[in-house]
Amino acid sequence: MHTLTVPLPGREYDIFIQSGLLPGAGGHIRSLLPRARKAALVTDSNVAPLYGTTVADSLTQAGFQVETFVVPAGEESKCAAQLSDLWSSFARFGLTRTDLVVALGGGVVGDLAGFAAATILRGVSLIQIPTTLLAQVDSSVGGKVAIDLPEGKNLAGAFYQPRLVLMDPDTLNTLPDATFADGMAEVIKYGCIADRDFLDFLAQHPSRSAIMAHIVQVLHTCCRIKAEVVAEDELDTGRRMILNFGHTLGHAYELAGHYSAYTHGQGVAAGMVRAAELGISLGLTPAHLSGSIARLVQAFGLPTSIPCSPADYAAAIGLDKKGAGNSLSLILLDRPGHAVAYPIQKEQLLAML
Ligand code: NAD
Ligand code: GLY
Repeated sequence: MHTLTVPLPGREYDIFIQSGLLPGAGGHIRSLLPRARKAALVTDSNVAPLYGTTVADSLTQAGFQVETFVVPAGEESKCAAQLSDLWSSFARFGLTRTDLVVALGGGVVGDLAGFAAATILRGVSLIQIPTTLLAQVDSSVGGKVAIDLPEGKNLAGAFYQPRLVLMDPDTLNTLPDATFADGMAEVIKYGCIADRDFLDFLAQHPSRSAIMAHIVQVLHTCCRIKAEVVAEDELDTGRRMILNFGHTLGHAYELAGHYSAYTHGQGVAAGMVRAAELGISLGLTPAHLSGSIARLVQAFGLPTSIPCSPADYAAAIGLDKKGAGNSLSLILLDRPGHAVAYPIQKEQLLAML
């Protein structure tokens, strides 16, 4: 078992990473929450038939009364209607303040069930059991929970840390290649922003099978970086912004594709390459780095560029959550494995793009 701790004072929590962990999930949760009686297991329609019964049985064996709530798979479920349904379902189930919500699935389930856990009864214990690569390396750690609004993604949410994150890398074996690749965009991001040796390691393991042969080490490295960044800046007012490398432009590409032509991971992949090119133009990023990142994202079937109109760039930059007035902090690389926040006028950035 590989264990990491997210060291938030008074609210620290562990991340357990172990192949074959799912059937023992209930035992780990029981050790942490000896007084809890009811467990609301939230999952989606793809994950439920694959892993729902294993986790529900494990919770039952650990003495929890379990009810499973299945939402339709897909981003559309991260919405106010599903959140409201979960609130009502939890209330009918009789969940109390000492009970818990278990989020079993990808980032959609983690964000939705996490926000439901944060808000039902003013907050009950949340356990994250991420089953996509993206959720294991990113969304299950760090406490950002949210739903989308018709006006935009992740517009209603909270910072609400889980009590425990349980990762079973075996669940990644059932992911479609495209979903695995989406997670790889975030994995590559960690190498770019925080760990040059890891970036070199990824370049030497440029395929799904090569990564899976070292998956525990990969998950551990990504979660270690995320835990360090979150511990330093839980509420995303400073250093945590480096996690957005490739995301400002990635959002523009997602917008350009009307959120259907390109996935988040594809947007981030092309966004990282473009951000490296911008950094080179600004004299900050070493000249070879855009090519190195492009080769890496390409190896995992991700795009190195995505067509985007000036209007879509402008809309994405204007809406960017990091933006303050006419300027924003663009995350750029000043060397491989190291990111900096670069303040730039939006007009200058638009002109460069
Ligand atoms: P997702 O949750 O939609 O999962 C992708 C697909 O894989 C879904 O169809 C799902 O049913 C399926 N799936 C999940 N696990 C599976 C498995 N083991 N085997 C087979 N199929 C499986 O998408 P995602 O990429 O995991 O997450 C994207 C979401 O995460 C977005 O809503 C994004 O905003 C959010 N996100 C949140 C944070 C955060 O910090 N909270 C960070 C990054 C992304
Ligand atoms: N996924 C970005 C963050 O957690 O801040």
